[in-house]
Amino acid sequence: MNENRWASRRAKAMPVDMFATMDAAKSQARARGLEIIDLSLGASDLHPPASALRALREATDDPATYGYCLHACTQPFREAAARWYGERYRCEVDPETQVLPLIGSQEGFANLLFATTDPGDTILLPDPGFPSYFGAVAVAGLDVVPTPLLAENGFLPDLSAIGTEDARRARVMVISYPNNPTAAVASDAFMREVAEFCADNDILLVHDFPYVDLVFGDYEAPSVLVQPGGLRGRIELYSCSKSFHMGGFRLGWAIGDAEVIAALARVKGSIDFNQYLGIQRAAIAALAEPRRRVRQDAAEFQARRDVLVETLNQAGWETPLPKASLYVWTRLPSGLSDSFAFTVNLARETGIALAPGRGFGVQGEGFVRFALVRDAEVLKRAVERIHAFLD
Ligand SMILES: Cc1ncc(COP(=O)(O)O)c(C=O)c1O
Repeated sequence: MNENRWASRRAKAMPVDMFATMDAAKSQARARGLEIIDLSLGASDLHPPASALRALREATDDPATYGYCLHACTQPFREAAARWYGERYRCEVDPETQVLPLIGSQEGFANLLFATTDPGDTILLPDPGFPSYFGAVAVAGLDVVPTPLLAENGFLPDLSAIGTEDARRARVMVISYPNNPTAAVASDAFMREVAEFCADNDILLVHDFPYVDLVFGDYEAPSVLVQPGGLRGRIELYSCSKSFHMGGFRLGWAIGDAEVIAALARVKGSIDFNQYLGIQRAAIAALAEPRRRVRQDAAEFQARRDVLVETLNQAGWETPLPKASLYVWTRLPSGLSDSFAFTVNLARETGIALAPGRGFGVQGEGFVRFALVRDAEVLKRAVERIHAFLD
C-alpha cells in the first residue's frame, strides 16, 4: 500500500486487515484438501426470521420500494426501532429526532466519527476492540487514547486509570458490552459509572450494542440511555446482523441524543441513500417478533458455548464461560505467545480458523477468539483437531 501512488494518507493509515491474513491461510488449507471450519468471523449461521424474509420477498414485488429512500421514507423503520427500544428498556424515544437507520452499525460508527469529531480530536477507544474501530479512527484522523480491557478488570475499562488531561481532552468514548472480542458483559452499575464519567467530562459516550440480544441465562444487557441523564451526550448503535442473522442485509440503527442524531443524519445525507426499503421492511417484521424468538437463538449459542468451553477445559485448555455474545475469548495454549503465528499455522495445517487476539489490538496479544458460528458437533471436532495439532 505504501508504494500505491493513488492511496491517500488516510488509506495508508488503515491498519492491516487480519481477516485478509486469515483468508490466505484458509486458502492454503483448502488447496491441500482440508475441511475448513471457520470460527474466525462473527457471521451468524442461523437464519433470519421467516417473517422478515417474507416481508423482503413481498417488497421486491412492490414498485414503491424501487426508488431512492430519503429520510422521510425511513419513518416506519424508525418507528419500529423506537417501539422495540421502548418495550425492551421501558424508555420512550422519539422516532423523528432520536432514531436513525444505519447501513450496518460498522458504517454508522465510521460516519458518527465524521459527524461528531474533527481531525486531531481525542477518542477513548477500547483495546482490544472491534477491528473496524481502528480503521474508522484512522480515517477520521483522531488521536487515540486506548482504554485497556484487562482480564483482571473483567475486560472493563478502568475509569480511574484515565488521566485527568486525557479525560479533559477526549471528545468521544467508545464502549461495547456484550463485548467483541472478549465476550465480557457490563453491569448496570458500570453503565451508570461510565455514563457519569462522560457527562462530568463532557465526552460523547458511544455504546456499540450489536450483541444486545445474544445474552445467556438471566443476564440482561444494560443500555446507557436509561442511566441518569438519559440520552443527553449518549448514543447507542444497534444491528440486525446479530439479533436477526441479517449480516449480509446491512441494516442497523442508532438511538440517542437528538443533536448527535441530527449531525449523523447530515453527514450520511451526503454519503448514502439509506438501505433498500425492502430490507427495512424485513427488519420491521423481525423487530415485531416476540422476544421468545431471539431468546431461542441465544439459547442455541449458549448451548454451543457450553460444549465448546467444556471440550476446551477437558482438553486442558483453561477457558472461562462467557455470559453473552457470539464468542469465546481465551488465552493461547500454554507455551505460546504469538496469536498471529498460532492462528495462521493452525489454519494452514488443520483448516480451523480462529481469530488472533492481536488482530483486535495490542492488549489482545496472548489471546484467541472462537466464534460460535457452527453447531456443537463441529465445534467439538474443531477442538479435537486443534488438540491433535498442538500435540
Ligand atoms: C462490536 C461490533 N460492532 C459492529 C459490528 C458490525 O455490525 P454490522 O454488521 O451492523 O455493521 C460488529 C460485527 O461483528 C461488532 O462485533
